Amino acid sequence: MIEFPSLVGSREVLQNAFDFAQNRVKAIVARDPGFYPMYTEGGRWRHGKEAWTNWCDGFLPGMMWIFAKRCGGEWAARAESYTTPLEHRKMDRGVHDLGFIFLSTYHRWYALTGRPELNEVVIQAGRTLALRFREKGRYMPSFMGPESLFIDIMANVGIVFHAAMETGDAQLMDVAMQHCLTTRRVLIRGDGSSSHEGIYDLRTGEFLRQSTQQGYRSDSCWSRGLAWAIYGFTSAYKRTRDARFLHTAELCADYYIENAPADGVPLMDFDFPPEVSQRKESSAAAIVAAALLRLAKLCADTTKGAFYDRTARRILLTLARPPYLASATDGWEGILKEGIYHLDKGLGVGESVMWGEYFFVEALDRALD
Ligand code: GLY
Repeated sequence: MIEFPSLVGSREVLQNAFDFAQNRVKAIVARDPGFYPMYTEGGRWRHGKEAWTNWCDGFLPGMMWIFAKRCGGEWAARAESYTTPLEHRKMDRGVHDLGFIFLSTYHRWYALTGRPELNEVVIQAGRTLALRFREKGRYMPSFMGPESLFIDIMANVGIVFHAAMETGDAQLMDVAMQHCLTTRRVLIRGDGSSSHEGIYDLRTGEFLRQSTQQGYRSDSCWSRGLAWAIYGFTSAYKRTRDARFLHTAELCADYYIENAPADGVPLMDFDFPPEVSQRKESSAAAIVAAALLRLAKLCADTTKGAFYDRTARRILLTLARPPYLASATDGWEGILKEGIYHLDKGLGVGESVMWGEYFFVEALDRALD
C-alpha cells in the first residue's frame, strides 16, 4: 500500500527532474544525432541488442514536443527533425503501436501549431490502426498474430478515437468502442488487475484464455500492463464520456494503489513470489502517474479525484530522486533507472527505457501545470 509523506517542497524537486530530463535529451542529440534509442544496456543507449518489436520511435521526439510547449527555444526545430522521418509509419500495418508513435509526435505538433496537414497524418495513422479490427472477437490484435489481444493496445486506441471524431466516421468510432469494451470484458478482472494478453479462436471468435508475453504468468498482473490499462481507459473516458471506461480506469487505479509498495513503484509483476524476483519497474510508475493526474480531473467524486492527484504526485516525488532518477549515477545516459522491457528475453532489465522517460516527462509536465 502506498504511503504518503509530506508533499511540501515537491514542486522544486519536480522542476529539477524536468530540467534534468531536458539535459539528458539534449545529450542524446549531441552524442548520437538522428538515433532513436529504445532501452539502455548498462546505462548506455547505443548497444545493438534486439528491439523485439518496433514501437518506440515517437518517444524521444515526443519529449522534445513537451519541452517545446513548456520552454520554447530550440526544442520545436529539434522535435520537427526527429518527427518528420516517422511519417511513413502512418501506413505501417505490422504493429499495434501507432498511437505510441503518432500521439506523442504529430498530434503534439498539431496541438502546438494547428496545421491541418499534421492532423491528416494522425488521422491516417488512426485509420491504419483500425484496419487491424477483427469482427470475430471484436478487437484489434497485437503484432504477435491475429489471435492475440494485448492490454498495451489500450494506450494506442486513442488515435482511432481521434480519427473517428475528427472525421465523423461512425465505423471508426465503432471499432474504437468495441475494442475498448472487448478489452474490458476479457483482460480486466473483477479485482481491477489486468491480464497482459488474451488468446482467441480465429475460426469462431471465441475468447479462449488469458496469457502473457512480458508478465510472470497468465493469471498474474504485469505492472506495465496495468499501467497501460489505467492510462488507456482514462483516455477512452476523456474522449467518449462513457461511464464504463471511467469505472474501469478507477477500478484498475485502485488495484494499483492498494497493491503497490510504500514508495509507489511496483514490482515488475504484482504477483511475483519473492523467490522468483523482486525487481521493480519504474516505467509502470511513470505511466500511472501521468494517467492519475488526468483521471484526477475527470472523476465525478472530487474527494477521489484529489486522492488520485496526491497519489500521482507521491509517485513522481519518488521517481524524481535517486535511486530512480539517474542524477547520482556517473556515466548513466538515461533519465529514470530501474525500468524493465522484457525480463524473459533479458532485454532492458533494470535499465532506462524510452517510454519510461517519455511518460515521466509527460507526468512532470502535467504536475507542473
Ligand atoms: N510492448 C509494450 C511494452 O513493452 O509495454
